[in-house]
Formats: sequence, structure tokens, C-alpha cells
Amino acid sequence: MIEMRDVGFGYHGEADLLSGMTLTLQPGMFHFLTGPSGSGKTTLLRLCYADLLPRSGQMTAFGHDMQTLDRDGIALLRRRVGVVHQDPQFLDHLPLAENVALPMTVSGEPVDMEALRDLLGWVQLSQHARALPPSLSGGERQRAALARAVILSPDLVLADEPTGNLDWEMSMRLLQLLIELNKSGKTVLVATHDLNLIRAAKAQVSARVLRISGGRLQLAGADL
Ligand SMILES: Nc1ncnc2c1ncn2[C@@H]1O[C@H](COP(=O)(O)OP(=O)(O)OP(=O)(O)O)[C@@H](O)[C@H]1O
Ligand SMILES: [Mg+2]
Repeated sequence: MIEMRDVGFGYHGEADLLSGMTLTLQPGMFHFLTGPSGSGKTTLLRLCYADLLPRSGQMTAFGHDMQTLDRDGIALLRRRVGVVHQDPQFLDHLPLAENVALPMTVSGEPVDMEALRDLLGWVQLSQHARALPPSLSGGERQRAALARAVILSPDLVLADEPTGNLDWEMSMRLLQLLIELNKSGKTVLVATHDLNLIRAAKAQVSARVLRISGGRLQLAGADL
């Protein structure tokens, strides 16, 4: 669904941060992306939803060449890829439910209130539907961000350090949600430097672990 062949990327006039990236995100698979802080995990995710374009190499998303995507092509790609950002932002003056429904509102679709209610129930935020984002805890914000990322039923879910600031119990709850999404057929890619999270996931689901190191991508072995 996302394929990179010998992809290189660097910011602005800088040297390549990532190089020789060859990767296939396989439909239905659970993937982890790990690597030290600053190694390029967020950058790689941004390449996957065409927020950044490769400097070299070939990259396709759902069979389309990313280098030649026009605006409509990018819009279509973004519908098929749900993103949970490392530091999720919300419109603070809008209640949580409206924030979660925003991708639908923005794309001009009528909001399916029943589906929205189900989704809030799934992330256990039903009681907070009318709350404003600034009043939510870190774990509640992350679950809201996950609900917002999947409201348009994407094929691929990218989650960038979704458990970054959460305690272990809340991390496990979030992991369960990601595993449920994967079991329902979605491809998942989670960037994390938390090896305990990866171990906990591998006990429940077969996951591919990719590691960025020195600007290169490697398949991490069974050492985890
Ligand atoms: N917009 C940008 N312009 C220039 N350099 C950037 C930009 N965004 C990130 N970088 C640099 O690129 C490198 C990789 O950043 P990135 O955010 O992809 O790392 P990361 O692996 O996600 O790190 P972390 O684990 O801390 O989230 C870092 O050195 C960072 O400073
Ligand atoms: Mg990052």
C-alpha cells in the first residue's frame, strides 16, 4: 500500500537525513517504526502521507506515484491514511465530539451521529463528548486523536509516539485500540522508542519492527 524504493530525504538545503529507504507497508500488517530521538521517525511518517516528498528514489501510495500526485490525489491519499500526530492539536473552542468529527465536516460530509457516538464509545470518551479539549487528560487527548484519525475509515493508520506521555496502563489501553484496528483489517504503523510497548504488542499480534539508524532503515530482528 505504501512502497518506497531507495528513497532519500533531507530538509531544505541540508544533507540527506534518510537515505536508501526501501520499505513496503503490507496490507493488514502491524508495523512498528523505532529508532533514537531525531533519527527521522516523524519524517518517515510525513513522507507516507505526502506531507513531505522524497528527494530521490521512488515512492508509491496505493499504486500512485507520490511525486506526481496532484491536489486531488493528495486529498484522496489523506482520506485513506489516518494520522495520530506526536502532539495532537485540537480546536480548543469546539467540544471533543466536534473535533473528532472534523475530518468529516471539513470534507463536506454529513456527520453520521450514530457512528460518531459508537466511535467515542470505542475510545471510552462518551462522557467527555461535550468537553473542551483543554480540559482533557493526556490519555484522553490521545484517544480522541485516534478516534479523529479513523473517523473516515482509513486503510492505513499512522500513529506517532501515541503513548509518548502516558503511563503504562494508559499505554496498554491505547495499544489495545491499535491492535483492534489492525484485527479489523487496517494496516497500522506505530512510531515509538518504547521497546516495552513493542514487546507487549508482539505477545498479541505478529508485528514487523523497522528501525531507523544512521539514516537507514533496517528490519529489527527477534532480539526484542
Ligand atoms: N521541519 C524541519 N526542518 C528542518 N529539520 C527538521 C525538521 N523537522 C525535523 N527536522 C530534523 O530532522 C531530524 C529528524 O527529526 P524527526 O522529527 O523525524 O525525528 P524523530 O525520530 O521523530 O524524533 P523523536 O523520537 O524525538 O520524535 C532531527 O534532527 C530534526 O531536528
Ligand atoms: Mg518524532
